[in-house]
Amino acid sequence: MNKIENISFENNSNNKENVISLLKNEKKSLPTHYLYDDLGSKLFEEICNTEEYYLTRTEQQILNAHALDILKEASPLEIFEFGSGSSKKTKSLISKALKQKKYITYFSFDISTKALKMSYDQLKQISKNLDVQLIQGDFNNDICRIKKSKRKRLYLFLGSTLGNFNNNVAVNFLNNVAKIMNKEDSFLLGVDKVKDEKIINMAYNDKKGITKRFNKNILKVINKEYKLNFNENNFLHNAKFNLEKSQIEMYLESTVEHSIRLPNNEDLNIGKGEKILTEISRKFSEKTLNSLFRKANLSIIKSYTDKKKYFSLYLLKTKKYLFP
Ligand SMILES: C[S@@+](CC[C@H](N)C(=O)[O-])C[C@H]1O[C@@H](n2cnc3c(N)ncnc32)[C@H](O)[C@@H]1O
Repeated sequence: MNKIENISFENNSNNKENVISLLKNEKKSLPTHYLYDDLGSKLFEEICNTEEYYLTRTEQQILNAHALDILKEASPLEIFEFGSGSSKKTKSLISKALKQKKYITYFSFDISTKALKMSYDQLKQISKNLDVQLIQGDFNNDICRIKKSKRKRLYLFLGSTLGNFNNNVAVNFLNNVAKIMNKEDSFLLGVDKVKDEKIINMAYNDKKGITKRFNKNILKVINKEYKLNFNENNFLHNAKFNLEKSQIEMYLESTVEHSIRLPNNEDLNIGKGEKILTEISRKFSEKTLNSLFRKANLSIIKSYTDKKKYFSLYLLKTKKYLFP
């Protein structure tokens, strides 16, 4: 496997303080990226294959149907994917791009080592004309350390990962992407749209219980990382659509009153029914997206959707060059 370049600016003691303070808040939460250790990244792949998780197959259909048009517009020599996961969805786009250009460089950027390994395994056999670069980092903190492109680049942010960010974080992320984009670069963003809440709720409560395992695994990750003693048997998987905020909220809900021991030997009490937020997944309307793009200085060049309008892909350019 190619060497993984680590550009993260992580400071473990700051991270630890942050995690402990989030757990001490009245409304408890954990940073979502802790869902993605080796096991979490593998479980996420399994979630993508469940019957209920319409997001992956819908986005894949849109991508397959419009790949040639996207490539005509973007004409990339480099493809840079944020939160690439296994890159399974991107494989066909890369193959088509390789038919048009002699040599393509694909950058897989993810926080998870397992995801980067899966991405490499997925792509290594495509063609000797594909150069795969693996970059480990946090897309909320490390974008400024990404080197700008020397050749025409297409940035990708798929899987509705943008939905995991609250509004401020989303604007900040999109702004940072706009800042590193050159005039010729494009940005393809995949987002999940507002729809019947039953369909959304089912997607995060699959019958096989894979999302439940994915959610509970965060406690093992936190225990290992910060020497805590969470017992996953004390928690239920709770994922429900919040209509007012138009987002899935995924919690771990305590079934008993208990306490966990913090590193300073303090006990943190967790009441019966108390919930720890592990992930939000926003479902976007056109209005919300237009407002996000405006704030981030991005313009829509083209958009693509499926027959049911469940999911959308937006091809964006930065406004600084369109309207200098
Ligand atoms: C919802 S999954 C999407 C994966 C893939 N793009 C897809 O469409 O199936 C989110 C991906 O982002 C990665 N990720 C989560 N938090 C991250 C962070 N803060 N920085 C970089 N990558 C992150 C995860 O490891 C995972 O691969």
